[in-house]
Amino acid sequence: MSDLHVVLGATGAIGSAVVAALTARGHHVRAVSRHPTSGDGFAADVATAEGAVAACRDAAVVYQCAQPKYERWAEEFPAFTRSVLAGVEAAGAKLVMADNLYVYGPVTGPMTEDLPHAATNPQGRARAAVDALILDAHRAGRVRATLGRASDYYGPGGTNTTIGATIFAAALAGKTARWVGDLDQPHTVAYLPDIAAALVTLGEHDSADGRAWHLPAAEPITGRAFLDLVWAEAGGAPKSAGLGRGTQRLLGLVNPTVRALGETWYQRDRPFVADDSAFRTAFGPVEVTPHAAGVAATLAWYRAH
Ligand SMILES: NC(=O)c1ccc[n+]([C@@H]2O[C@H](COP(=O)([O-])OP(=O)(O)OC[C@H]3O[C@@H](n4cnc5c(N)ncnc54)[C@H](OP(=O)(O)O)[C@@H]3O)[C@@H](O)[C@H]2O)c1
Repeated sequence: MSDLHVVLGATGAIGSAVVAALTARGHHVRAVSRHPTSGDGFAADVATAEGAVAACRDAAVVYQCAQPKYERWAEEFPAFTRSVLAGVEAAGAKLVMADNLYVYGPVTGPMTEDLPHAATNPQGRARAAVDALILDAHRAGRVRATLGRASDYYGPGGTNTTIGATIFAAALAGKTARWVGDLDQPHTVAYLPDIAAALVTLGEHDSADGRAWHLPAAEPITGRAFLDLVWAEAGGAPKSAGLGRGTQRLLGLVNPTVRALGETWYQRDRPFVADDSAFRTAFGPVEVTPHAAGVAATLAWYRAH
């Protein structure tokens, strides 16, 4: 049987962390993106069925870490997913979807995997459509599939995230570090290498198939406490602020990604906490990176880039 693990979106933040995790566990890896940044990358457009079939050929497991632009999810993510499923099915492979927590929509209390897919905003509906396509394909026996859901991430290589440059690069430059949303709400924050390790665990276990899992993360933290960790490590006079709904609306006039963030503002003005106990019970014990260590490694990465 093949031990080829194919990573779609391998130059992205999660994809590159998955490549590193697979390599560390001794798996044979194919790293796919449209514009590979190194000679051993595989160039393919997986939004087309023929690109996805070529990218997935001979795979045992396919990690789906590629995505359309954030503000284009509603228009493009379902068709994108159909292409990826065609590639996975043609290879007779298993699919591991790098997912997020948008399907649930606004919730009261910690999120568990059995919550209804109640999102009404465009991005959440797109994610729910994607997840339904994947789980339907699994139930129909076309592919074996599992979904790993992570909250907002940070970490080395993590620039396409609200917990990125406006915090780490800003602190290193001695500027105000800005947390998107209310500074005092608990929020589950995922560290990229922890996400990657958990996705690979899902890829390695047949018992993961046919459902979604919340990926393990360190304890929920407020924006204020997170920024305190950043300043403690970065040094200098701490300057922290929350970026509120008014500023988001203003910036959104010129930036479509920031504009789209307004649709899911419920993630930023109240507690946003994921319960990861199902994963820990099924595949644990799991060691996650403490936030202080994750923040230190992320600052080191931003310093070097
Ligand atoms: N941001 C967060 O905090 C967060 C949290 C949890 C889950 N997620 C989800 O995790 C997944 C991965 O996110 P990410 O932030 O790691 O992604 P990312 O950094 O935006 O990277 C996307 C990757 O996909 C590739 N790609 C895009 N279109 C492609 C296509 N048509 N064919 C082949 N490759 C393509 C890109 O390379 P090329 O452009 O060269 O093709 C890149 O390697 C997404 O579904 C995201 O929503 C994100």
